[in-house]
Amino acid sequence: MAQRILHLLEAPAAKPQLVRWFVEAWAPWFGPGGQGDAEADLAACADRDRLPLCLLALDGEDKPLGTAALKQESLGSELGYGPWLAALLVAPEHRGRGIGRALIEAIVAEARRLGHQALYTSSGLPPGRLWPRGWRPVGESQSLRGDITVYRLDL
Ligand SMILES: CC(C)(COP(=O)(O)OP(=O)(O)OC[C@H]1O[C@@H](n2cnc3c(N)ncnc32)[C@H](O)[C@@H]1OP(=O)(O)O)[C@@H](O)C(=O)NCCC(=O)NCCS
Repeated sequence: MAQRILHLLEAPAAKPQLVRWFVEAWAPWFGPGGQGDAEADLAACADRDRLPLCLLALDGEDKPLGTAALKQESLGSELGYGPWLAALLVAPEHRGRGIGRALIEAIVAEARRLGHQALYTSSGLPPGRLWPRGWRPVGESQSLRGDITVYRLDL
């Protein structure tokens, strides 16, 4: 599958689709009654060189496949860490084809480009295949869905 990753700024028409994905994937936070505001989070990604920034994976016909963000704050920020790889999401029908990992690598590259020394992420997924070489657990926190682990990658 043809695939490229660019800044959401370069494909703003994808935003409504991303909002729908966010509400579906993280309903307790972004859904009705939740504290999150998916539109506002995406609108905040307004600069290539300043956080927060959002990346978008597109197929060969410019159809959105997935997204990820580099943010100053995320679940786990209360532990004093940052910046964060957050809002990693691949459309259900495109999962299992390496898009998630490509988005992780692209966010890592952006964090390096902006001069950060370390990158963090918090996840309820089991450690291992999605967070391979280099990512190590450094803490625990809580999300609306339960326990999460905070991982750190030295850049
Ligand atoms: C998690 C998510 C982004 C993975 O995207 P993806 O494109 O399917 O991931 P990839 O195809 O790049 O998979 C990379 C590796 O992670 C593993 N992996 C993918 N999803 C996983 C999951 N839910 N639990 C454990 N491992 C997983 C894959 O098996 C693969 O390992 P392998 O190459 O050794 O088989 C996607 O499932 C998703 O959007 N989930 C819902 C949102 C979410 O949970 N986001 C938060 C992630 S912290």
